[in-house]
Amino acid sequence: MDADTTTGTDDRRVVLEVDDLRVTFSRAGRRIHAVNGLSYRLYAGRMLAIIGESGSGKSVSVRALMGLLPPSAFIAGSARLAGTELVGMSEKEMRRIRGDEIAMVFQDPARSLNPTMSVGAQITEAIRTKSTIDRKAAAARAVELLKLVRLPAAERRFHEYPHQLSGGMRQRVMIAIALASNPKVLIADEATTALDVTTQAQIMELLVDLQDRLGTAVIMISHDLGLAASYADEVLVMYGGRAVEHAATDTLFRNVRMPYTKALLGAIPQLTTPPHSMLTVIGGHPPDLSALPPGCAFAPRCPRATARCAERPPLDEHEPGHRYACWHPVMPGVELETPADGVPAEDVELDDAEQLRTEGHVAAPPTLLTAGVIPSEDRVPTKREQA
Ligand SMILES: Nc1ncnc2c1ncn2[C@@H]1O[C@H](COP(=O)(O)OP(=O)(O)OP(=O)(O)O)[C@@H](O)[C@H]1O
Ligand code: SF4
Ligand SMILES: [Mg+2]
Repeated sequence: MDADTTTGTDDRRVVLEVDDLRVTFSRAGRRIHAVNGLSYRLYAGRMLAIIGESGSGKSVSVRALMGLLPPSAFIAGSARLAGTELVGMSEKEMRRIRGDEIAMVFQDPARSLNPTMSVGAQITEAIRTKSTIDRKAAAARAVELLKLVRLPAAERRFHEYPHQLSGGMRQRVMIAIALASNPKVLIADEATTALDVTTQAQIMELLVDLQDRLGTAVIMISHDLGLAASYADEVLVMYGGRAVEHAATDTLFRNVRMPYTKALLGAIPQLTTPPHSMLTVIGGHPPDLSALPPGCAFAPRCPRATARCAERPPLDEHEPGHRYACWHPVMPGVELETPADGVPAEDVELDDAEQLRTEGHVAAPPTLLTAGVIPSEDRVPTKREQA
């Protein structure tokens, strides 16, 4: 396993240790290597953002933890939740852990909720499947949970049906259901993607609040680097089923090292971008997971690639608390060495961190908080702003 001291080795409580996790699907005689040796630790009361392009293995990696993959998935490696090994666990044991110790909130609450039951009845049922309390006590607890997730007029909403609630309210109900058994780990897989930016920010604030109040560890999966920069304590970037960069949020955004992370940042719309401008996208295609190259999977799209990149770079802790997998990381002020084999790199920008700061990626994530999108009276300072 790669050493993971990304957030230090202090006394914070590790709740989840993922070690060399691998997921392979067999489909039509092909093997699809969706997750390829993923390792990280998750701490109580902290939020880890997993980001990366579509198909990079984000969802598969967390579904593997919850036993939510189809039988065509072969899972190897290790994932210990409070010391209990999840990989290889029977479905019966997994059913107990799922919802009880580790819970998930998905992108589309409309599809996850039962349209024929009131939201109160659904939360009450979730509570009663996990404990022996009677219906009345469970209903009272359900109202408490609705208040905890800050659903306005919780007592009245308890009796309403999903179609009577807005998208944001439905997502709060899903979070209340996920919290019914006070899980150690809450996974939010693109949980705010379908919401407007104001509601998105309110749900993220709620998750941060729950982390602080309940000590829940949160894994937030997103395409949105602005959200990750605003709310997560640490960020893990995935490419081709592997972690390619991982650090505390500030460290990562201020000192982007991996050209892929840099390219992702380049793909974020800027506040200063004139309306209707073309979005910068990362050129080329994500790797074919059934035929991953032996070297760095980003090489065909990487402006810094050299012949050395035909060998796969290890994900090492090159700087304190900062892991990345790259032979030629972006280093402000350090010229890219022309390797001995003489293959040149193209288009190297070396003032990356400064550029990110001046463009507002770091101190002011572009999508939500500083764009004036969220009325100031509706928001509380993020944890990172309070720090
Ligand atoms: N049941 C399956 N059978 C075969 N391949 C699968 C299956 N589920 C996922 N995959 C493949 O695994 C890879 C990773 O998928 P995953 O859903 O984890 O991506 P993701 O990073 O979550 O992307 P997105 O941002 O679009 O949600 C994809 O190439 C996908 O096609
Ligand atoms: S190892 Fe090479 S190809 Fe991969 S990201 Fe670094 S420079 Fe680019
Ligand atoms: Mg996904």
